[in-house]
Amino acid sequence: MAPLPPPGGPDWYKDAIFYQLHVKTFCDSDGDGIGDFRGLTGKLDYIRDLGVTCLWLLPMYPSPFRDDGYDIADYCSIHPGYGSMDDFRAFLDAAHVRGMRVITELVLNHTSDQHQWFKEARSSRDHPRRDWYVWSDSDDRYPGVRIIFTDTERSNWAWDPVTKQYYWHRFFSHQPDLNFENPAVREEIWNVMKFWLDVGVDGFRVDAVPYLIEREGTSCENLPETHDVLKFLRRRLDEHYTSKVLLAEANQWPEDVRHYFGDNDEFHMAFHFPLMPRMFMALRLEDRKPLVEIVERTPPIPDSCQWGIFLRNHDELTLEMVTEVERDYMYEEYARDPVARINVGIRRRLAPLLEGDRRRIELMNGLLMSLPGSPFMYYGDEIGMGDNIYLGDRNGVRTPMQWNGGWNGGFSSADPERLAQPVISNALYGYQAVNVESQRRADHSLLNWTRRLIQARKSSPVFSRGSISFLKPVNHRVLAYLRALDREQVLVVCNLASTAQAVQLDLSEQAGALPIEMFGKSVFPRIGTSPYVLTLGPYEFFWFKLRRL
Ligand code: NOJ
Repeated sequence: MAPLPPPGGPDWYKDAIFYQLHVKTFCDSDGDGIGDFRGLTGKLDYIRDLGVTCLWLLPMYPSPFRDDGYDIADYCSIHPGYGSMDDFRAFLDAAHVRGMRVITELVLNHTSDQHQWFKEARSSRDHPRRDWYVWSDSDDRYPGVRIIFTDTERSNWAWDPVTKQYYWHRFFSHQPDLNFENPAVREEIWNVMKFWLDVGVDGFRVDAVPYLIEREGTSCENLPETHDVLKFLRRRLDEHYTSKVLLAEANQWPEDVRHYFGDNDEFHMAFHFPLMPRMFMALRLEDRKPLVEIVERTPPIPDSCQWGIFLRNHDELTLEMVTEVERDYMYEEYARDPVARINVGIRRRLAPLLEGDRRRIELMNGLLMSLPGSPFMYYGDEIGMGDNIYLGDRNGVRTPMQWNGGWNGGFSSADPERLAQPVISNALYGYQAVNVESQRRADHSLLNWTRRLIQARKSSPVFSRGSISFLKPVNHRVLAYLRALDREQVLVVCNLASTAQAVQLDLSEQAGALPIEMFGKSVFPRIGTSPYVLTLGPYEFFWFKLRRL
């Protein structure tokens, strides 16, 4: 019998620490150059010891890999290079035994053009499967709908020479959009969900949710009809399962994303896309303004819902949710080399974005672990892995995990030429310099520091469930906020500047409380009625538990 899922109430995801990884590049157990589930299973202790409580796997299904697996050719099996279904089940059990949950990808907007459904749909105009996709005689329907992959696509329509019609696609032209007007498509997607939920997964990160339905005269994004489809899937989920999570990838403004939570009848979680670039912007500007503004502009969400927040992921650092001026600024400051730019974003990992500066890496991770929402870490960022912007598409941020200083960084025993992705081998970020094994041994490594940071976060529920209120000291280089839940309060103070700063905080409402610094447990002077003065070194931050006597 499969082990029971880890403890936690139905809203476990609110307290979760997520870790996103690619099976393909995590650990290869059989020496074929491709990571696999057996390899990943062998590394679960590492992930658990970091403090992670839920894994998010990139697509693991059969695929021609023209979008690294987001082009799915078969929804209900495992890509053979990653192992068998039994390997997957064994991995899932092993994760659950260790107290970790697992969410997988539900890519519902589109399939690969190699999926049997599309092969049938394009075989003739009369095929019963024809209506599973979106067809048109002309390519001028839905004018003005934006193109997402601006570097590769010129239109959202592609010509099918066999049946002489165009089909609709929001992403690559080899990824035809499914037609969600067709109830059979909805049913089939539900069957896919059911299949994996019965295998035992704990939920889904649902890909590209704003684009399910098309309507003339609209942007074809966030339409009410799209929400209807999503509510249908949630209803089904609630009818049959408990304690599962649906997480929306909706790269939209907070007001629009709010609708994906519905009235607690759509998604349990959604990524907060606009927050991410503003964390980088605030750091570079040495000014809290962009960050405070976006958090204050974020509407409240239902009680059982939660934001997902992140610094980096497997895609480019997206700059879709910023103004043009802000985008230019981000490119100028974070991607001066045009090769680092792709689509509307920057294809770099966290450490190189921050020029390998340990203080900035710590500060950004400190924000990730203390701002409202559940944190999503991207594999390798806990050791400060680098990237390779010369690999195609977004592959430069998907290189093999660096386990040690040996052959292929300990990822695989295959000949280096055979690897699914080349390892990073430059002098600064290469596996000889940056790897788990050496960082495990050093008490003050980024890895061990990250582990302590996660422990500190977990030591207070204010971070996962509390409210946030910003203090607005005159010194705008200092970001300060209170996280509070019931009677518990944590004060976070961050210096966004590269120079030492002093700040006076109005903490008169907290007068009488004793600030206890959460990492070293040092007791700071008691808060009084006059402004509370703190000095902070470059990029330094404090978390204080406010103890009331
Ligand atoms: C969003 C995914 O994060 C990205 O990697 C993918 O290319 C697109 N969806 C299309 O599936």
